[in-house]
Amino acid sequence: MNAVDMELKVNGINYKLQVKPWRTLVEVLREELGLTGTKKACNEGECGACTVLLDGRSVSSCLVLAVDAQGKDIQTIEGMSDGSKLHPIQESFLKHGGLQCGFCTPGMIMSAKALLDENPKPTLAQTRKAISGNLCRCTGYQHIIDSIMAVAEKGGI
Ligand code: FES
Ligand code: FES
Repeated sequence: MNAVDMELKVNGINYKLQVKPWRTLVEVLREELGLTGTKKACNEGECGACTVLLDGRSVSSCLVLAVDAQGKDIQTIEGMSDGSKLHPIQESFLKHGGLQCGFCTPGMIMSAKALLDENPKPTLAQTRKAISGNLCRCTGYQHIIDSIMAVAEKGGI
């Protein structure tokens, strides 16, 4: 099947692309747009490494066809910082040791953003639930939870 014309809005920028209709959003972000901050690991919705926001909702971008993301506001880790200034969630992960190898980190941060945008003062249980779809092989999760809770304690984002 031939590539089709599509338009994606990522981090506020509109991109016009020609993409085969079966390609997933994570593939298009990484391979067509060069936005490699979004990671691809399991490719079947199990690990959360590919988490991005679609109209503010966290989704596994390996389970979304790029064509279906048209007309939506797509946010990736690349859109979090303001130039060289890190987003408060990113700062908090650094400060509280919320990352080690960093592979899960973009997905974790996007899940944290979706949570804190909707609920600036989440409980511990709500925070745990919000990242329950994101696997981390390194940290044991406690420092990740601490990083997110610290942002909430400072009044959210
Ligand atoms: S790569 Fe998408 S959930 Fe694992
Ligand atoms: S920091 Fe290595 S997988 Fe989470």
